[in-house]
Amino acid sequence: SRRVTCADIMKRKGGEPIVSLTAYDAPMASILDPHCDFLLVGDSVGMVVHGLPTTVGVTLDMMIMHGQAVMRGAKTALVVVDLPFGSYEAGPQQAFESASRVMMETGCGAVKIEAGVYTADIVRFLTDRGIPVMAHVGLRPQAVNVTGGFKAKGRSNDETDTVLAEAEAAEKAGAFAMVVEGVDEALAGQVTNTVSIPTIGIGASATCDGQILVTPDMLGLFDWTPKFVRRFGNARERIDEAIEAYAAAVRNRTFPGEAEVYRVKKD
Ligand code: KIV
Ligand code: NA
Repeated sequence: SRRVTCADIMKRKGGEPIVSLTAYDAPMASILDPHCDFLLVGDSVGMVVHGLPTTVGVTLDMMIMHGQAVMRGAKTALVVVDLPFGSYEAGPQQAFESASRVMMETGCGAVKIEAGVYTADIVRFLTDRGIPVMAHVGLRPQAVNVTGGFKAKGRSNDETDTVLAEAEAAEKAGAFAMVVEGVDEALAGQVTNTVSIPTIGIGASATCDGQILVTPDMLGLFDWTPKFVRRFGNARERIDEAIEAYAAAVRNRTFPGEAEVYRVKKD
């Protein structure tokens, strides 16, 4: 079947919830692909794959390399690639240079940017020039050094107004969908009811038009995860069991065994 498009995602507003997860490499993308409407190559790659403390150190070249890998593994899901910190905030021109590189070098279907009200002109500039944009409002991890942490939004009327303004600005500027991260349930509902494009929630309640999680988090790869993550698996334990069994088999010389050994005929 053909690949999901941004237009397909847009049409899902208010319909069957949109399913999405993050992906960073080809084999995992191929496992996620049949289950997901879109895959996000998130700049969370910096934290969950490269061990960085925040997403601020992620480069455009890293995003392109992971985007290429995911495109090789994903056959039908739409692939969206994050523009990382420092690659778009200077303005529309810089954003277009970065986003066009991502589109041309990976073949992905859209880019995502963390959207303040100030990014509206960037979203408009990109969409006018053929680059579909997914916005990301609410908790914006790339702004952690200004906001001072990963606290859920919606604690004051001021905060609520800001998130609503970000969402409306992104919609008016032509975004085809938006991630809503780390907001109070009532605010998530308000955003979803206010904008006519799909909202994809992460830590933003079931009121959103779809959900996304960071795949290694939901698989249970880490000891610690934020409150909003449900661990749908226990990858860390399963992997640990496998590695323990391998180490034991090497040490007691039961690996490699009969079936795993080459016995070639000499000529
Ligand atoms: O980088 C990322 O994985 C994201 C999702 C959490 C939405 O932006
Ligand atoms: Na991100």
